[in-house]
Amino acid sequence: DLLGRSAHAQIMRILPKAPPSTTAAAVAVNSGPTSPPPMIATSNRRRQLVSSTPEWKRLQRHADEVIRPSHLRDMLRDSNRCESMIAHHDGVYLDYTRQRVTAETMDLLFDLAERQGLRERIRDMFGGERINFTEDRAVLHTALRAGRDEIGSVYVDGVDVVGEVHDVLDRVRRFTDAFRAGEITGYTGKRMRNIVSVGIGGSYLGPEFLHEVLKTESEGINTSLGYDLRFLANVDPVDVERTCADLDPEETLIIVVSKTFTTAETMLNARTMRQWLWDFMGDDADVVRRHVIACSSVSATENVRAFGIDTNEGMFRFWDWVGGRYSVCGAAGAVPISLMYGYDLFEKFLEGARSMDKHFLNAPPRENIPIIMGLLGCWNSSFMGYSSRALIPYAQALLRLPAHIQQLDMESNGKRINRHGVEIDYPVGEVDFGEPGTNSQHSFFQMIHQGQTVPVDFLGFVRSQHDLLMDNEKLSSHDELMANFFAQPDALANGKTAEEVRSEGCPEELVLHKVFDGNRPSSSLLFPQLSAYVTGQILSLYEHRTAVQGFIWDLNSFDQWGVELGKKLALDVKEHLMEARNSEVGDHEIIIADNPATSRIMNYY
Ligand code: F6P
Repeated sequence: DLLGRSAHAQIMRILPKAPPSTTAAAVAVNSGPTSPPPMIATSNRRRQLVSSTPEWKRLQRHADEVIRPSHLRDMLRDSNRCESMIAHHDGVYLDYTRQRVTAETMDLLFDLAERQGLRERIRDMFGGERINFTEDRAVLHTALRAGRDEIGSVYVDGVDVVGEVHDVLDRVRRFTDAFRAGEITGYTGKRMRNIVSVGIGGSYLGPEFLHEVLKTESEGINTSLGYDLRFLANVDPVDVERTCADLDPEETLIIVVSKTFTTAETMLNARTMRQWLWDFMGDDADVVRRHVIACSSVSATENVRAFGIDTNEGMFRFWDWVGGRYSVCGAAGAVPISLMYGYDLFEKFLEGARSMDKHFLNAPPRENIPIIMGLLGCWNSSFMGYSSRALIPYAQALLRLPAHIQQLDMESNGKRINRHGVEIDYPVGEVDFGEPGTNSQHSFFQMIHQGQTVPVDFLGFVRSQHDLLMDNEKLSSHDELMANFFAQPDALANGKTAEEVRSEGCPEELVLHKVFDGNRPSSSLLFPQLSAYVTGQILSLYEHRTAVQGFIWDLNSFDQWGVELGKKLALDVKEHLMEARNSEVGDHEIIIADNPATSRIMNYY
């Protein structure tokens, strides 16, 4: 049918069938042959795709016959419909009236969820089943924020995971309390007040987004007085310069955050920072023991020790059952954030996440905010053909939320094979991007209003972290900000017709330029005030949205094999660079077999 074809065309765009004839493919020749994917009979193959279920096909027909011919402008006049498209939980208010859905669409989406065993799969995740089967791991980031009363509720390989989580959190509290009391001092006896967290990807983006929120939160302002937290992620030497040029090494504590403790960028930056400490204080093992700590997995303990870190006092554990992009509630976030703001504030973040976890696990699907948002995500990308989406927080303090959610979601659901090992034939995995409103309105909103359709999540807050009301202004600055939060979704949904443009006296030759076709979907999320607690709710909500989409699409959202090839090829490239650098011959020529393009550009370099 028509949608089937357009969906297929779309996936072809996202996932080119043939390996691109680029450097990557060509260099791979050096690393030996790759085995062909296992052959699966076409009929079996189709049976193992969610796209061949009657529930999926009904949604495709419904999209074509009911939704495409309709306009949000009309749907929004129906007050019963609007009434039914609101969900609440613990201060969180979701309004999805401006999504291109009807009550019937939602029924069909819930049928699909049922078909896919969504509730069972959510329970499996919370219960510690090894749902990340390509790595044979459980997926238990929810255990990172489970309460003490849940100790003994989840076991993996006979180990009480919530008990272990609380052991680590207790250690984080003791360590950070001692640090902030000045009981832990640097090598030269000075009190340490600067914290540099070295890590990349999930070991960086989550903690950084949380730090940005707390910087301007009232409790955060008070507790962080006199401390300075920075993040070093990029292996670009300029990032090192920008991070520590004005820091005093004698007053600086370095945290190396790496689950594997092998990530090339993180390890080079960690060695660079260690050298920086040695350059100032002397090449003494004690310098490292007093100024460098680690957040890493148990299996990396030997590497952490070999680096010179005290693995008893200065190492905080991760577990295999937490993916990097889901790790901010564990030591990766707990250590830097508690050092900077105190453990109590970090705990409020965990409490917010826990509140949303319980809602996700227990609320009926029709009232369940992460389930509704996940289903809408599937609807927009797989059935309506919208391949990207934007996250627009009307809160400057959430400026790094879109970057975190981008990694969380795109690394999770940017996949091509379903959990039965079959290549999928439907579009999955949106391109996620975003910036705070109102800045984004003066940047890419032109396209969102008149170019491609990009479903948007608008995030707003009833109260500002810091409102301003100038003497001669009638509305506060926060009201001004929020006026945009309320107006943009309507502008996208309703648009502006040619008649409306003409009625404003617009010259005829400009009328079409000023028309907005509207019918552009969005959801609005309203929260009381941006705090540590609410940030925990937001984090959990988006983590679970991603999981729901992965469950519906039948993906393993918890592995990330797609990041491996580039890393491997960089190793090969480094060998060639080393050979060239070590060569006695001034004009040593790099020759990579069967790869003239990369050979050429590297020689130019
Ligand atoms: O390259 C992807 C990735 O593996 C992410 O999933 C992870 O968060 C990041 O690298 C960093 O990994 P690590 O914490 O092991 O250094």
